[in-house]
Amino acid sequence: MFADRAVQLDIADPLGHLRDRFLPPQEPLIAYFDGNSLGRPLTATAEALTAFISDPWGTGLIRSWGQQWLDWPIRMGDDLGRLLLGAAPGQLIIADSTTVLLYKLLNAAVDANPNRTTILVDEGNFPTDRYVAEAVAAQRGLQLRWITPPNGTDIEPDLISQAIDENVVTVLLSHISYLNAHIADMAAITRIAHQHGASVIWDLSHSAGLLPVYLDECDVDYAVGCTYKYLNGGPGSPAFAYVNAKLLDTMSQPIWGWLGRRDAFEMEQGFQPAAGIRRLTSGTPPVLAMVPLAESLALIEEAGIAAIRAKSTALTDFALQIVDSWPNHLGFTVNAPRDAQRRGGHITLIHEDARAMTARLWNEGVIPDYRNPNGIRIGLSPLSTSFAEVLAGLQAIRAMAE
Ligand SMILES: Cc1ncc(COP(=O)(O)O)c(C=O)c1O
Repeated sequence: MFADRAVQLDIADPLGHLRDRFLPPQEPLIAYFDGNSLGRPLTATAEALTAFISDPWGTGLIRSWGQQWLDWPIRMGDDLGRLLLGAAPGQLIIADSTTVLLYKLLNAAVDANPNRTTILVDEGNFPTDRYVAEAVAAQRGLQLRWITPPNGTDIEPDLISQAIDENVVTVLLSHISYLNAHIADMAAITRIAHQHGASVIWDLSHSAGLLPVYLDECDVDYAVGCTYKYLNGGPGSPAFAYVNAKLLDTMSQPIWGWLGRRDAFEMEQGFQPAAGIRRLTSGTPPVLAMVPLAESLALIEEAGIAAIRAKSTALTDFALQIVDSWPNHLGFTVNAPRDAQRRGGHITLIHEDARAMTARLWNEGVIPDYRNPNGIRIGLSPLSTSFAEVLAGLQAIRAMAE
């Protein structure tokens, strides 16, 4: 029954033809369930990287900095804002890693509201977010107030209302939980923070490239995210940061470098921040590592984010139907929001042997992610995953438990 359904869904999939744009793996792969951790490369990316080495690098040489490269971080940031994040130009930049940008933005948020004492953060947040919050609190003499969400992950507006007060300088949350893909209500939570005079920093790592985000409409203050998941930027590709235009003129960040300075090439004494989002820059932008992102954004533009989100929901719906049909004695439970509107791009299967099973699955060409202590995370990247692949991978997981 599921086999027929997978065939029908693949035939009807308006994005199905785009799977051929991804580079075929060199060895047999039954199912890749980790595109939400490291997206697959595009064939166009392999070509673009080779072409880049010959020109603009090999031919344009250092002239290419002035001709184009210095503009890439903001130009690609604008593309991200236009195609995916609902942000007008001039508010996004590609740079650093998510961790480093988070450090910059948390400090910026503290500087913007220096009389407040407390950072609000949740225990279910991704480790780097928690650790950076700890670091900034320790360095700036602030307190951390931890929220413990029910289910370990589900951040709801009520929870924020209960935890926030006039001491809170900023609220640091993930839009989509890395554990069970629960989607937080960005508009409502941002509004609550603002009612208490606090700002909000959203981590969009599991959102960018998966579903439309409306940063300007939600009046978000700051956001960050990585580009190697649904944006297929490749291992270690640079991150992005958003700063609301209304905060930009007075925004400060702690890592002062030459390319974040006004008139960088004047090489003057003393740091003065550049105008606009460029002031978030510290050193030389990772231009080579942005080449894959440009290719990926072109594909996403062709597909359209609304169609990508529709396919994502169909993929996770299908996966849930399959897993729900499994007998209880196999020992699986599912950790995923049942309401598709509140569910991101992955579902997590809980099983007591999750760690050992994941290791064996990788050897068999089925690649989910293991999440401590007992989660098998099934990430379904809409542009590269077919319904037949979902079925084949889940059947292999089921067989392993039988
Ligand atoms: C929610 C979230 N934030 C941040 C990161 C990673 O940060 P960085 O790019 O600095 O390694 C990840 C990586 O998986 C993540 O899932």
